[in-house]
Amino acid sequence: MAYPLVTGRLSIAPLAEEDAAAFARYRQQPEVARYQSWSTAFSEADAARLIAARPPGDLPGPGEWLQLGVRVRGGVQLLGDVAVHCVAEQPDTFELGVTFAGEHQGRGYATEALLAVLGGLFTEHGAHRVIARCDARNDAIAAVLRKGGLRKESREIEADWFKGEWTTLDTYALLAREWAPRATAT
Ligand SMILES: CC(C)(COP(=O)(O)OP(=O)(O)OC[C@H]1O[C@@H](n2cnc3c(N)ncnc32)[C@H](O)[C@@H]1OP(=O)(O)O)[C@@H](O)C(=O)NCCC(=O)NCCS
Repeated sequence: MAYPLVTGRLSIAPLAEEDAAAFARYRQQPEVARYQSWSTAFSEADAARLIAARPPGDLPGPGEWLQLGVRVRGGVQLLGDVAVHCVAEQPDTFELGVTFAGEHQGRGYATEALLAVLGGLFTEHGAHRVIARCDARNDAIAAVLRKGGLRKESREIEADWFKGEWTTLDTYALLAREWAPRATAT
């Protein structure tokens, strides 16, 4: 994808070294970490390591993750990120995760950023299928994924031992042939 991806309100580009403090700060928020793989102990040093390990291209290679930072256009403050994972087991298949700082939620930014990244993956990169996996209790991401056009495809009941309890995982998905009519309709 050519960065920054620009939407009506947002600018989206890979996280850089100087984003480490802001990235760590919102990952430490309990409501942000609740259903995510990290804990509130995620430090600025953890953030710096993750950012430094960024894959070199404009998309992750098989098995890799790339964190795209989201800002208001023309702004410097980091609002959140869209994480892009290239699924190693299948060609042209990507997984996304969306995270916004608590104070920047509830404004439609997450949905706007998700739609931009979906557009880049399907239109510029010929993605075949994009998925997202989430805790079944995470209503906020479920709403964002549905607004992005993803379908709930499966539910794995109490399949994941996560943060001290068995949790149920939902998988959402969208195919290129489902995205194309949406893209031309807007
Ligand atoms: C998941 C997450 C990113 C969703 O963020 P969000 O801000 O709730 O999502 P949206 O961008 O859709 O914004 C939601 C609300 O903003 C409001 N809003 C305000 N101004 C708006 C605008 N200009 N345009 C659109 N919506 C707007 C709407 O009410 C919308 O809710 P509605 O569509 O139900 O009416 C956020 O809850 C989060 O970061 N959670 C923690 C991390 C996490 O668990 N991520 C999932 C990992 S897969």
